[in-house]
Amino acid sequence: MANSNLFDLSGKVAVVTGAAGQLGGEYVNTLFRAGAKVAAFDINFNSPKNSLPKTESDSFITVKVDITKKESIQDGLQRVIDVLGTPSILVNNAALDAPPNASEQDTGPFEDYPEKSWQAMLDVNVTGMFYCCQVIGGHMAKHGGGSIINISSIYGILSPDQRIYEYKSAEKPFFKPVAYSVTKSAVLNLTRYLATYWAGKNVRVNTLTLAGVFNNQDQTFLKNYIAKVPLGRMARQDEYNGAIVFLASGASSYMTGANMVLDGGYSCW
Ligand SMILES: NC(=O)c1ccc[n+]([C@@H]2O[C@H](COP(=O)([O-])OP(=O)(O)OC[C@H]3O[C@@H](n4cnc5c(N)ncnc54)[C@H](O)[C@@H]3O)[C@@H](O)[C@H]2O)c1
Repeated sequence: MANSNLFDLSGKVAVVTGAAGQLGGEYVNTLFRAGAKVAAFDINFNSPKNSLPKTESDSFITVKVDITKKESIQDGLQRVIDVLGTPSILVNNAALDAPPNASEQDTGPFEDYPEKSWQAMLDVNVTGMFYCCQVIGGHMAKHGGGSIINISSIYGILSPDQRIYEYKSAEKPFFKPVAYSVTKSAVLNLTRYLATYWAGKNVRVNTLTLAGVFNNQDQTFLKNYIAKVPLGRMARQDEYNGAIVFLASGASSYMTGANMVLDGGYSCW
């Protein structure tokens, strides 16, 4: 018989990457409240964009991990095993929207998009997620299975509509850059590949595709963006939490290799 609380995560151990970011902190708190023990991974906890549980304990830890370095993830996993236990939930949330020290060229014409930026974006958004799946997903596959949630974006399933950003081009051309879209598209097939690869090991792998979160963007951007959203607004930062619990828990037990799209309807016309 099914668990009476389909969404219960009691006793599970979860790893959330990019946990010091705007949405990562939401996921940490949500999984924690649903009963999971949570390891928050990030490269930098100096100024978290969201609140995290105040004190570390045997059910919550922060771990400094650079997901572009496989050894750093291996060390992080060992800490999780030692303090919390074997993980069975992995939220691959860490990503860059723009490379560190982005220059004017980064938002200039595609033809001049810097190779260095392209590589920096691939390193975190694709290779970093690949390493986390190898190390943490691989461990889950050997130890009873679990659920992996790979975070993508509407810009990974659709091209950015450059008309949203045209108003920024008054003095020099401005384009939403290519690398973010390409890396977020790669997430979809990493998910499908691993869903079939680990199907026999009880590891489910799904993509969660998100649209833009309200973050005090300027009025022209908001007007242009919202015109494309049937629900008529950007997402609140807490509006993806339900999907995280659904995908992490037994409530989604027959779901793998799928792409769950939460976009206020952005992609339906
Ligand atoms: N915020 C949005 O509007 C939006 C929309 C669609 C999709 N998303 C996706 O949601 C996820 C989270 O977005 P966010 O807005 O919270 O981003 P954010 O920039 O607030 O957080 C990202 C976190 O990743 C961490 N990080 C970066 N490089 C790292 C590395 N090498 N190792 C470990 N951690 C690293 C950063 O330190 C940061 O804390 C991303 O995957 C993003 O693509 C966000």
